[in-house]
Amino acid sequence: MNVNREVEVSPSLISCDLANLGNQVVLCEKFGAGSFHLDVMDGHFVPNLTMGPDLIKAVRKVTDLRLETHLMIERPDKYYRMFHEAGSDLLLVHYESPVDLRHLFDGMSDENIDYGLVINPETPFSRVKDLINECKVLLVMSVHPGFSGQSFIDSSLPKIKQARKYIDENHIDCRIEIDGGINYENGKKAVEAGADILVSASYIFYNDIADSIKKLKSLGST
Ligand code: DX5
Ligand code: ZN
Repeated sequence: MNVNREVEVSPSLISCDLANLGNQVVLCEKFGAGSFHLDVMDGHFVPNLTMGPDLIKAVRKVTDLRLETHLMIERPDKYYRMFHEAGSDLLLVHYESPVDLRHLFDGMSDENIDYGLVINPETPFSRVKDLINECKVLLVMSVHPGFSGQSFIDSSLPKIKQARKYIDENHIDCRIEIDGGINYENGKKAVEAGADILVSASYIFYNDIADSIKKLKSLGST
């Protein structure tokens, strides 16, 4: 299948060499990253702990690219301002969060904060289609959130296709992003299904950074 779409690569810094954070960010940018993905986990919403606002502040100092913060936390309503103030350009909130999403999104809109909606592998697209109108991004998880290095779940592909069709037919200004287990092979399938943004941690940081980013980016013109 031929594809001609601008594909953005968003390295997830969860797997970078944290002792060399600044250099890793600069390298990714040099080799074509279009944004950065920051995985925030609170040990409640997912069984893992990662970074907080200070790490986002540190990344903000070394790049002007868009910083997307993926909030895998129980109370995004309580903490989103901290991440916004730390320098995040876009806050990604899970549909599965135990909060009133419409209320949260209305509040963010009033404060001019950009947001996106994330859906877990078990959440069908049909359940969220009425929520994406004001979202900059719909992020489809292709693993169960919590850890990098997991295997890609194939059932995310038909979901991407459905979302692509709905977004295009209804002229909604929302990009489709996929996150979890992305490599060249399944990244290709995701782009063919309609993904605009590919998030990747282990494929980029456990291989040659330049080569992996270039390969993923090239999927936009196959
Ligand atoms: C999973 C995170 C992902 C993930 C990506 O909970 O949201 O961003 O760490 O890692 P890889 O690309 O290794 O699956
Ligand atoms: Zn993520």
